Amino acid sequence: VDDAQARDAHDPLAGFRDQFVIGDPELAYLDGNSLGRLPKATAERIRRDIQAWGEDLIRGWDRGWMELPVTVGDLLGSAALGAGPGQVVVGDSTTVCFYKLAAAALDARPGRRRIIANADDFPTDRYVLESLATARDLEVVWLRFDPDAGPDASSIASALDDQTALVAVSHVAYRSAHIADMPAINQLAHAAGALTLWDLSHSAGALALALDADDCDLAVGCTYKYLNGGPGAPAYMYVRHEVQADIRQPIWGWLGRRDPFSMGPGYLPAEGPVALLSGTPPVLALGCVQEGVRLVAQAGIAAIREKGIRLTQYAIELIDRYLAPLGAAVGSPRDPLRRGAHVALRHPDAAALTVALRQRQVITDFREPDVVRLGLSPLTTRYIDVWRGIDALRETLSENVDQR
Ligand SMILES: Cc1ncc(COP(=O)(O)O)c(C=O)c1O
Repeated sequence: VDDAQARDAHDPLAGFRDQFVIGDPELAYLDGNSLGRLPKATAERIRRDIQAWGEDLIRGWDRGWMELPVTVGDLLGSAALGAGPGQVVVGDSTTVCFYKLAAAALDARPGRRRIIANADDFPTDRYVLESLATARDLEVVWLRFDPDAGPDASSIASALDDQTALVAVSHVAYRSAHIADMPAINQLAHAAGALTLWDLSHSAGALALALDADDCDLAVGCTYKYLNGGPGAPAYMYVRHEVQADIRQPIWGWLGRRDPFSMGPGYLPAEGPVALLSGTPPVLALGCVQEGVRLVAQAGIAAIREKGIRLTQYAIELIDRYLAPLGAAVGSPRDPLRRGAHVALRHPDAAALTVALRQRQVITDFREPDVVRLGLSPLTTRYIDVWRGIDALRETLSENVDQR
């Protein structure tokens, strides 16, 4: 405990926790990679936006609402994605964003029949690729990796050929937290004439991304984890400037059209990233995303990443010391440069452990088949929370061992 408290005392980001609503100070919340905490500024923002709705009514659309997908997208691009302006929009769910960009990428590579994907990626991405492949009679090449890892450049290199249209993988693996080598994979895909689509849900707001510098084509991600945008908050799409002319998303709604209020015949895509939009922006939810992203911008992504490495390193040290003798193992990369901001703990009773932890005021989550995921959000998680989580695991596992 003393050690954890000393780490908290020296944590340069410690003050950020005060900017969030902390309902129960005794709760060790290690699940910010499922749903991030509520920023105090967001509660106030919702109040203001509701008031604007009441007072401005439809005039709100001329007072900034209509531009929010791009305003928030640009802020997100500079604060967390390493993306210059005019390439990111926020709106639609992650699933829908992934569908739109995957479909557009396949259209941009006509005649090519293959998609390369990770068989262990988050289910929604797998299902969307399955649906596109079924509808277009294409083949998905499902790559399999070690459960504690994720896609490596050499496996992707061996799967790529002149029939590959798209490589669609997660940057940080949702189970293991393994970080894929983004620049290398982009380079390999481009050399084969394919496009890349990255799911950044477990990356954005947790580590420094460099989408422009790393030559990414397309990316999507959710905003309700490390960006603290709130339950079901809208996701974002990134389309690199250089490929925007080739990318035409498939849901041709009125608000992605040039000059939408002319209500004219036929669809003509708008200029720039607005063409990625389809329908009316979710204004209240976009306000929440903006407040969450502002906190990331304020703290600075480099400082956030630094703390993420320290928190995960601390968790791994405690697991090795206290839980390995009780049958648990680290299921995340040990190299901090290859690890995101969560730690997978592998144990055959992972599901029951997750339930037992909740009774001890520790919230984690379970991932099939044997992982307890410890999500460590640098802006809100304290070292003492990590210590409490591991201590509760140690107590639970010791009781189980005693009962056998
Ligand atoms: C990698 C990844 N992609 C997508 C999603 C979810 O997609 P949606 O926001 O459409 O529910 C998640 C949710 O946890 C995820 O971890």
